[in-house]
Amino acid sequence: MGELTSTRFDVLTLFPGFFVSPLKESIIGRAVSKGLIEIHTHNIRDFAVDKHKTTDDAPYGGGHGMVMKVEPVAACLEAVSSFATVKQPGNIPHYVILTTPQGVPLRHEMAKALVEKKRIAIICGRYEGVDERIRGLADAEVSVGDYVLTGGEIPALAIIDAVSRFVPGVLGSVGSTEEESFAGNGGITTCLLEYPQYTRPVEWRGQTVPEALLSGNHAEIKKWRRRESVRRTFERRPDLLKKADLSEADLAYVDELKKKG
Ligand code: ADE
Repeated sequence: MGELTSTRFDVLTLFPGFFVSPLKESIIGRAVSKGLIEIHTHNIRDFAVDKHKTTDDAPYGGGHGMVMKVEPVAACLEAVSSFATVKQPGNIPHYVILTTPQGVPLRHEMAKALVEKKRIAIICGRYEGVDERIRGLADAEVSVGDYVLTGGEIPALAIIDAVSRFVPGVLGSVGSTEEESFAGNGGITTCLLEYPQYTRPVEWRGQTVPEALLSGNHAEIKKWRRRESVRRTFERRPDLLKKADLSEADLAYVDELKKKG
């Protein structure tokens, strides 16, 4: 078996058209063009066994809605494991994810761990439900939040995007995930939210850029950013603060914020 040199996603969906445009754009589009990631979509309907190409059926026991059938998903998954490209030989194990609101919430740490899998298959569940036996085909069930979407396609895109950021070379030198995990750059760190960012102009409709950022004093800027990260996390996501690696100075600032209410 050749060495895997890219991260490959195989998406099993009833709506492959969903993925065409989003995956051509911006950072992910560039990563695909550069061969850093491969994304292949597979239409589950092509693997339906009957002449009507049925992929869902009424639930046993009655009730509203249709349930996604297990056989086409299993057949699709089996076929996908044999597909090969130059960088990714066939017959290598996939890590199989089923998207469902009942899954484990997608978080920074999970995305970072998933990049190690190298070959990921994502089964896009449908909102009305999937046959319970489809769950047995998956290594993990993943949710992108406590709300119900009409299908698993948007969750699959979110997973691909979040994981791809950790593929070496995808983000380039600016805003690397390395920096993000300790300096608080890029939105969410492993523990703290990002500090506020500004660019020109200095003054806009009476709102000015904080003095510290204009000072040119790197130590002062670093200190201001750290305090703002702590403050923002305290105000918006106190749950994250509990997991954060806080210094004595951070803890003193948190105490100050608590006193201020
Ligand atoms: N399918 C529908 N809603 C979902 C969600 N929130 N996460 C993952 N898959 C879903």
